[in-house]
Amino acid sequence: MERPAPIIQFEERPGILDLGWGHPLPSLLPVEQWSAASQAAARTFGWRALTYGYAAGPGPLIEWLAEHLSRTERVRVRTSQFFVTGGASHALALVSTILTDPGDVVLVDSPTYHFALRILRDRGVQLVPAPVDSAGIDPAALDDLMTSLRSQGRRIPLLYLVATYGNPTGRSLPDRRRHELVQLAQRSGLTIVEDDTYRELSYEPVAPQSLWSIADGRAVVRIGSFSKTVAPGLRLGWLNAAPEIVRTLTGLGYVDSGGGVNHHAALTMATFGASGAYHRHVAEVRGHYLRSRDVLVDTLRAALPDFDVPSPAGGWFVWLPLDQGVRASTLRPAAEQLGVSFVEGGRFYATGQQGDDHLRLAFSFLTPEQLVEAAGRLAHAVRTVLG
Ligand SMILES: Cc1ncc(COP(=O)(O)O)c(C=O)c1O
Repeated sequence: MERPAPIIQFEERPGILDLGWGHPLPSLLPVEQWSAASQAAARTFGWRALTYGYAAGPGPLIEWLAEHLSRTERVRVRTSQFFVTGGASHALALVSTILTDPGDVVLVDSPTYHFALRILRDRGVQLVPAPVDSAGIDPAALDDLMTSLRSQGRRIPLLYLVATYGNPTGRSLPDRRRHELVQLAQRSGLTIVEDDTYRELSYEPVAPQSLWSIADGRAVVRIGSFSKTVAPGLRLGWLNAAPEIVRTLTGLGYVDSGGGVNHHAALTMATFGASGAYHRHVAEVRGHYLRSRDVLVDTLRAALPDFDVPSPAGGWFVWLPLDQGVRASTLRPAAEQLGVSFVEGGRFYATGQQGDDHLRLAFSFLTPEQLVEAAGRLAHAVRTVLG
């Protein structure tokens, strides 16, 4: 019999608790609240919610977002600096399309979000890892690398990084380095693409200042998403960029032809935001993911006392260093035999054989009870591999 047509991007593997999925916990997706916002948007905007939308995204969403970001980040974000996208992935695809040519060098953090590497590779650019140490990108070493690449005639239009609550590391770039990176970009004609997807999922009182706000919008494009805070199925995000970049995007043929991206979801989000539902929902999910982080970290620390288990200050991931000779690639088959899985660290590097000494564990997708069980199975697998 033919299998039913798939609906979602998720593959159930019976018997396996998978710490690999960076997806929201299904029961936290706001089905009722979104449906109420959708009805309210239809009442408020009528036919305007169902026709072609304004090229940069509908005014009500941009005005709400500008107000929200200006308040939470204590900088003024102007409405002319927004372009609404079909999520952060789409934003990165768009920015790399307009700012790079095949053969260019694109600098990337190391490790970094593995699918960003895929999106950039689709452009035919050469990915070059930025020099890093344990705190993240080292701006002085990056300056030297850029000078050397440029002396070989290479064009370097972009640097991509997740500076705040990174995927996969959970770490944030220290403040001083943020300032140094911005200065480097502004004096060298580099555009930094700051993927700010996890900013709102902060477990500390104040999230680090964005590169975008440090740069006052010059030489930085900041990418935002509603995938982690509300729901990935909305395919809705935005970017903040200098008005000339926004104008280039609004002038793209497909935007001219089809209007603003994902107009109906964008207007519904405007209603969801302005009604206070966004604020309440983010507070709820932040509280939940904070507890999930603690459950995973505490269980792993108790079960693997010799391991240095980090506790991220935001986001969804524990970047677990393996010591004592355990490798991610040998651990995974053993772990899956015991009913647990993860993403091997090597997936997050642009080049070379790095990363087999780390696992990325997502605490977003499983319930706290499942996280306890998964951590126990993982510790069992580590002990099995160690003999
Ligand atoms: C750093 C980062 N950027 C982008 C995305 C994808 O975002 P979106 O669903 O908005 O395309 C993810 C999702 O895992 C992510 O971790």
